[in-house]
Amino acid sequence: MASYLEIADDSKGHELDLFCVPKHYEEDLDSVIIPNGLIKDRTERLARDIVRDMGGHHIVALCVLKGGYKFFADLMDYIKTLNQNIDKSLPLTVDFIRLKSYSNDQSTNCVKVIGGDELSALTGKNVLIVEDIVETGKTMETLLKLLNECQPKMVKVASLLVKRTPRSSGYRPDYIGFEVPDKFLVGYALDYNEYFRDLSHICILSDQAKEKYKV
Ligand code: IMP
Ligand code: MG
Repeated sequence: MASYLEIADDSKGHELDLFCVPKHYEEDLDSVIIPNGLIKDRTERLARDIVRDMGGHHIVALCVLKGGYKFFADLMDYIKTLNQNIDKSLPLTVDFIRLKSYSNDQSTNCVKVIGGDELSALTGKNVLIVEDIVETGKTMETLLKLLNECQPKMVKVASLLVKRTPRSSGYRPDYIGFEVPDKFLVGYALDYNEYFRDLSHICILSDQAKEKYKV
């Protein structure tokens, strides 16, 4: 079982005033639940675990857009730094896929691939899928099913966050940054209807903001 840093259900997070958040979002957030520095520190350790397990093989890191792009970029940077300093380095290429499953703050049953590289390029490859958050698990289960049709040699999944929710299918990624309470989270590329990607910390979205940015 993958280890993770647990953020407790009763964690209120940190007051917004203690951190720098963009002026345009000050009214929309309840608190900072994972500060940017802590995200980076945990990501650095995940990079070490991934290189330990997969080092010596060529891997294709597959970024799930758009929410995964910050975690992907930081994770790749840490892997690159490790690669420069160890014997059993991990040769890397990158691929991108764009999925959509969310409307407002509800995960939908319909997961769509709406762009990115062709999955058929991954036949026979060792693939590391890099995702922002697993909630019900449906997005990842759908992607894994699609990917397996292309017969990759091996597939591992790294997700920065896993939500503790009764809606979970039970799916667990191979690498997990944090396990988080069942709240809607934004920032560090996680969005609500495309807003809040331009926020460095992971924050709890307020109920008023869900109304304000509803589509
Ligand atoms: P799942 O299919 O229910 O596991 O949902 C996974 C996808 O929903 C993630 O890749 C995110 O794009 C989105 N998502 C789920 N929870 C959140 C959240 O709290 N904030 C932002 N996006 C979320
Ligand atoms: Mg996502």
